[in-house]
Amino acid sequence: MPGFTDDFLDEVRARNDIVDVVSGYVHLEKRGSNYFGLCPFHSEKTPSFSVSPGKQMYYCFGCHEGGNVITFLMNIEHYTFREAVEKLAERCGMDIPQDAYGESSKKERDRKDKLREINKASANYYYLQLKGSRGKAGRDYFEKRKLSDETILHFGLGYSLPYSDDLYRFLKSKGYQDDLLKDCGLVVFDEKRGGHDKFWNRVMFPILDANGQVIGFGGRVLGDGQPKYLNSPETEIFNKRKNLYGLYFARRSREKEMILCEGYMDVISLHQAGFTNAVASLGTALTQEHCKLLSRYTKQVLLCYDSDKAGVSAALRAAPMLKEAGITSKVIHMDPFKDPDEFIKNLGAEEFRKRMQDAQNSFLFEIDQLQKEYDMGDPDGRTGFVQELSSRLTRFRDEVERNNYIDAVCERYHLEQGSLRRETNAIGEKKEEQRMRNVRFSASSPRMENREEGQQQRQKKGGLSRTQDLLLTWLCEEPKLYPVVRSYLSPEDFDGGLYREAAEMFFEQMENGQDDPAKIIATYQDPEDQKEVSGMFYSDAYETVTPDTRDKAMRESILKMKESSLERYRREHSGDQDFLSTTLKRQKELQELRRRKILQ
Ligand code: CTP
Ligand code: MN
Repeated sequence: MPGFTDDFLDEVRARNDIVDVVSGYVHLEKRGSNYFGLCPFHSEKTPSFSVSPGKQMYYCFGCHEGGNVITFLMNIEHYTFREAVEKLAERCGMDIPQDAYGESSKKERDRKDKLREINKASANYYYLQLKGSRGKAGRDYFEKRKLSDETILHFGLGYSLPYSDDLYRFLKSKGYQDDLLKDCGLVVFDEKRGGHDKFWNRVMFPILDANGQVIGFGGRVLGDGQPKYLNSPETEIFNKRKNLYGLYFARRSREKEMILCEGYMDVISLHQAGFTNAVASLGTALTQEHCKLLSRYTKQVLLCYDSDKAGVSAALRAAPMLKEAGITSKVIHMDPFKDPDEFIKNLGAEEFRKRMQDAQNSFLFEIDQLQKEYDMGDPDGRTGFVQELSSRLTRFRDEVERNNYIDAVCERYHLEQGSLRRETNAIGEKKEEQRMRNVRFSASSPRMENREEGQQQRQKKGGLSRTQDLLLTWLCEEPKLYPVVRSYLSPEDFDGGLYREAAEMFFEQMENGQDDPAKIIATYQDPEDQKEVSGMFYSDAYETVTPDTRDKAMRESILKMKESSLERYRREHSGDQDFLSTTLKRQKELQELRRRKILQ
C-alpha cells in the first residue's frame, strides 16, 4: 500500500485516545481499569463491549469484534484503512504526509479539491435560490412532491434560476477562473455565447460521495419537459459508475441491509419515511463498481426497482452482479405502484415496511419471471420450463443450498421433487465435466488454499488457543511478568501462524519495554486477522484469575504451551540428528516445571 510510515501511524494512534474516539459513538462507563458500553456492532441489552485505555484497544465479548482506534473507525464508519487514518489525523490536527498519496501529484489533488469546492459552493447557491425570493417555482415543486423543509435541508436540495448564466456569474464573482470552471461540470463554454450554465430552471439534487463531498448534480425539470433529469457530466471528481446517491447517509443507518432503488426521488422519499438505508445508482445501470462499493457496507440488498418491465429486467440483471460481489439480494414488490416514492405516498411507511419483510428471494423472483415465458398448461411448455429451471438450479454448487432451492421451487410450482432433483443433478454433472475439462491445465492457487485452512483453524478455537490468549492478555495486563514468562517461553512455542506472528511482535515490544498491542493490530490489513489478534489480548479467562489461583494458572498455561510445542517438535523434527537428546532434554524441563513455583 502506498503509504503512511510506521512513525506516522504510531503518532496518529498516540494522539487519538481510543476512549475519546469510541465515546463519540458509544456511551461508555468505567468499570475497573476498562470502559464498557453496548456494542455498536451487534444488538445487545447488557454491555459486553470493552474499551481499554491501557491497551488502546476495544473488544466485544459478545460478537468478537475488536481492534485499535483505526480499526474502530473502519468498522463503525465503514472507512477504508486510508480514510480512517486520514480522519484521525485530521481530528488531531496532523498533516497527511505528501508522499502518502502515492501516484497522484499535489497539483492534481489541489485541482480536485478546487473542483469539489466549486461544486459545494454551487450547492449552497442553489439552496439559497430555492429559499430566496426567486425560488417559488422550486419550492412549489418540492411541496407538490411532499418533501418537508427538513428533508430539503438534509439533502441540500436547491433550485437553478431560469437564467442562462446565473451560476456562472456567481462563480466568477467568487474568483474562480474559466480554466477551472470549464471542468467542474456546471458551466458549458462555447464560442458564441462564452460561459453559460448547464442547469437552469430545474430543481437541483446535489450528489455527495460516500464521504459527504459534493461531486455533481442531478437537475429535474419542473414540469413535463425533456430531458426529465439532467446530470453533471463525468468530471475528474464525478464518476457515475462508482458513486451511489444517498450512500453518505445510508452508510450511517446502522441497518443490516441496504435498499437499492432507481432514482433521486425514490431515495429521498424513502429517507423521509424513515428508511435511511436507501441508495440509487445515478441514471446508469448498476455497475460492478457499485456492487463492490456496496459490499463495503452491507451483505444484503433489497432491490426496489420500478415495477415496470425495465425495472424487472434491471433487478434480474442486478441480482447476479451483487452475488458476485458477495451480496445476497431480495426483491421488494411494490405493485400496484410504480416505485417506492409513489408507494409511500399512497400507502405510507408501515405498508412499505411490510413489503420489505415480504421481499422475495431473487432467485425465486427470477424463476417467477421465467415461468411467465412458458405455457404451463401445456405439457411441452411445462417440460421446457423444468429444463430451464434445472439448468439455473445448477448455479448453486453447494448441495444443501441447491436442495433448499429445489424444495422451494417444487412447492411453489407444484413440481415433483425427485424428478427435478434428478434432472438438476444430471445437468449439473454435465456442466461440471465441462468445467473440469476447461480448468484441467490451470492449477489452483496455493495461497487461497492456505487461507481457507487458516480460517477453519481459527474457527475451532480449542483449548490451546484459550491458553495462548490467556498468556498474551496476562502479559499485556501485567508487563512486569514478562521476564518470568520469557524464561520459559519463546514465540516459537506459540502455535498457529497468527499466534506465532503476534507473539513475536509482542515479545519484541516487551524486550524494548513497550506494551502496545494496538500497534500489532495495525500491521494487519485483513479485518478478520485484526479481529483475531484483538481476541488474543482480550481473553476473558484472565478475569477468572485470582490471587489464590495465579501461580497455578500460570504454571498450567506454560506447561500446556510447552507440551504442545514439544509434541509439535516431535512431529516435525524426527529426522534431526539431535532429535533424541533434544526431546529428552525438553521432557526433563517439563518435569521440573510441574513442581516449580513460578510466580512469587
Ligand atoms: N434518469 C436520468 N435521466 C433521465 C431520466 C431518468 O438520469 N432523463 C435517472 C435519474 O437518476 C432518475 C432515475 O433515472 O432519478 C429514475 O428515472 P425515472 O423512474 O424516470 O424517474 P423517477 O425517479 O420516477 O422521477 P420522478 O419521480 O421525479 O418523475
Ligand atoms: Mn418517480
